[in-house]
Amino acid sequence: MRLDDGARGYGAVWRTTGSVKQRDVVKKICFVGGGNMASAMLAGLRKKHPLLDCHIIEPFAPAREKLAALGVTVHEAANRAAIDGTDAVVLAVKPQVLKQVCGELLPCLDGELIVSIAAGTRISTLSRWLNGHQRIVRTMPNTPALIGQGITGLYAPSALAAADVATATDLMQSTGVVVPVDNEAMIDAVTAVSGSGPAYVFHWIESMLAAAHGVGFDATDARTLVLATLKGATALAEASDESPSLLRERVTSKGGTTAAALAVINERGVQQALIDAVRAARDRGAELGDTLDTA
Ligand SMILES: NC(=O)c1ccc[n+]([C@@H]2O[C@H](COP(=O)([O-])OP(=O)(O)OC[C@H]3O[C@@H](n4cnc5c(N)ncnc54)[C@H](OP(=O)(O)O)[C@@H]3O)[C@@H](O)[C@H]2O)c1
Repeated sequence: MRLDDGARGYGAVWRTTGSVKQRDVVKKICFVGGGNMASAMLAGLRKKHPLLDCHIIEPFAPAREKLAALGVTVHEAANRAAIDGTDAVVLAVKPQVLKQVCGELLPCLDGELIVSIAAGTRISTLSRWLNGHQRIVRTMPNTPALIGQGITGLYAPSALAAADVATATDLMQSTGVVVPVDNEAMIDAVTAVSGSGPAYVFHWIESMLAAAHGVGFDATDARTLVLATLKGATALAEASDESPSLLRERVTSKGGTTAAALAVINERGVQQALIDAVRAARDRGAELGDTLDTA
């Protein structure tokens, strides 16, 4: 048996080599909420599982029409037919409507695997809203998921069956890479690093664009220079065996231009600001989790 390419060994689906029994591919999925994330996951899943039977519960009629045109079976409200026989029910609504959604879902559930992508909502909270339901996986994707380049943190309680973890991992791999974490509090850390991370990068891009304008480039050239630099440096860091520190040192000759820039960056404490920012995001995530826990 081998596992597909999930990070740290959780595979997409169990594959067979020799005598080990194969776990079947995902056959039916039901999304609750047909917004951005559900659409992104749908696109990725269909590439992987062309025969997937996909159901989406979505109260907004124009959204249902769009999804129906993609060949999805749409439902205005939760019902047993949408959920019956699914490999997983994916909670893809905003956290503020999640309690209500769980209330609507509850009468239709019969022990199915629930995969939540909702920010800030703990498994214990979801389980309480779902009358003690235990088969729940919590994940935290990020916005590049919308173009298939996301990264998702995934937490599955240790009592959960390996097949459920594999199904949840497979679903989330439809939008990019999956990193499992072994305690739920680390989902707040994932949120702080990769969930909110794109915003830090966008902020960096904005700052670099302002800097490029400041030294005389028009908007078009500034955009080309900044985005290509970011893309190229990221690709180099990914391709290289050397650490980012070493790569930085290699372009920083003593007394040179990069050294002059980095001296300002260090003097202003940019690295410490980022470390503090990530801690603040993680702590805010824990606080939001506490608030929802009392809802
Ligand atoms: N977008 C991301 O990259 C990203 C990243 C990390 C985490 N997440 C999490 O993923 C979740 C979904 O995000 P999203 O960006 O996909 O949100 P979204 O585009 O707003 O989609 C949510 C969908 O759920 C629908 N909905 C509302 N009430 C419902 C109900 N009672 N039953 C069924 N569907 C209902 C909404 O319809 P209406 O429009 O009519 O309200 C909307 O179509 C959120 O919890 C978010 O925190 C998203």
